[in-house]
Amino acid sequence: MKKAINDGYGGLDQIEIIETELPKVSSGEVLVKVRAAGLNPKDVLVRKGKFKRFTGSKFPQGIGFEFSGVIEDPKNSDFQKGESVFGMVNGWNGRCVAEYVNVKEKELYKMPAQLSFEAAAGIPLAGQTALQAIRDLGHLRNGDKIMINGASGGVGTLAIQIAKALGGEVATVSSTKNLPFCKSLGADQTISYQETKLLELSATFDVFFDVFGNYSFRKVEGLLKTNGIYITTVPKADIIKEQFFNLFRKKKAKLVVVRSNEKDLKWFYEKIEVNQVQPVIDQVFNLSTIQAAQKHIESKRAKGKVIVMMSN
Ligand SMILES: NC(=O)c1ccc[n+]([C@@H]2O[C@H](COP(=O)([O-])OP(=O)(O)OC[C@H]3O[C@@H](n4cnc5c(N)ncnc54)[C@H](OP(=O)(O)O)[C@@H]3O)[C@@H](O)[C@H]2O)c1
Repeated sequence: MKKAINDGYGGLDQIEIIETELPKVSSGEVLVKVRAAGLNPKDVLVRKGKFKRFTGSKFPQGIGFEFSGVIEDPKNSDFQKGESVFGMVNGWNGRCVAEYVNVKEKELYKMPAQLSFEAAAGIPLAGQTALQAIRDLGHLRNGDKIMINGASGGVGTLAIQIAKALGGEVATVSSTKNLPFCKSLGADQTISYQETKLLELSATFDVFFDVFGNYSFRKVEGLLKTNGIYITTVPKADIIKEQFFNLFRKKKAKLVVVRSNEKDLKWFYEKIEVNQVQPVIDQVFNLSTIQAAQKHIESKRAKGKVIVMMSN
């Protein structure tokens, strides 16, 4: 089968397409024929060696953590051969940009029928990140106010819709050109970081979700209500320290670390069925242009998700 790999840590030239054996399927896993894979900043960071501690020094290393496809071998699971599914592999062994992928059966779920494979592949990683941040860490409730910084990217476009689905009042932060885009996804208030100094706003929020990761808890503390919660996606040193200080104050600082699970994928399945949440796809590439796809992610200008279609 064909598979995208990194042949070492470094630039885009480390990415190659190789012919390799079908993956081995362990107990508790199924084999999926991949139709589309979503790319994420995680793929770029892994290639650049930013997580060497977890990804080790053995090459080649696979690419891609989220996918859509059809069950090729259900093993002992309840899935049927040929059933359409979507999911995300946990951990550091990226491998979804490939014709086949072995996945734990608890990391995938049946795919919403009305979605194309490319649309479905953009949900599992970005969507579960946003859901676990806003619902589980932010405890956003009906009528709560949330500010989403970095609202026009892969995580942000789903975060807006999730916050609205949970009954939140949503303020977004993006570049000026993306203000109407964020509005179209349901934002109640859209703010441009090019025109407005965020820290000078007088409004306060129940949740500040820093998707882009350029505001520390200390910086935005003043934008939080008395019991407000700050959530970041980026594991910098200060958030580790701030999480400890949560013990001694009302305002909380939290780091989201996404984990794929069938319960949360089911949440998306149900919301998509009733049209409450829709994936936003920026660009679709094919396997032979995966370098260009990663280059687009690296630009930090993606408007929604970047997808790689498999040709099978
Ligand atoms: N901890 C976890 O479990 C986890 C999971 C998923 C993602 N993440 C992290 O979350 C971050 C976002 O992921 P993503 O998939 O959403 O990335 P992405 O799709 O690549 O984000 C691109 C977006 O970033 C926005 N942006 C660029 N500069 C900005 C700025 N100065 N202020 C605000 N927004 C800005 C851009 O909007 P404009 O063009 O409008 O500026 C663009 O729409 C990444 O660092 C990723 O590694 C962490």
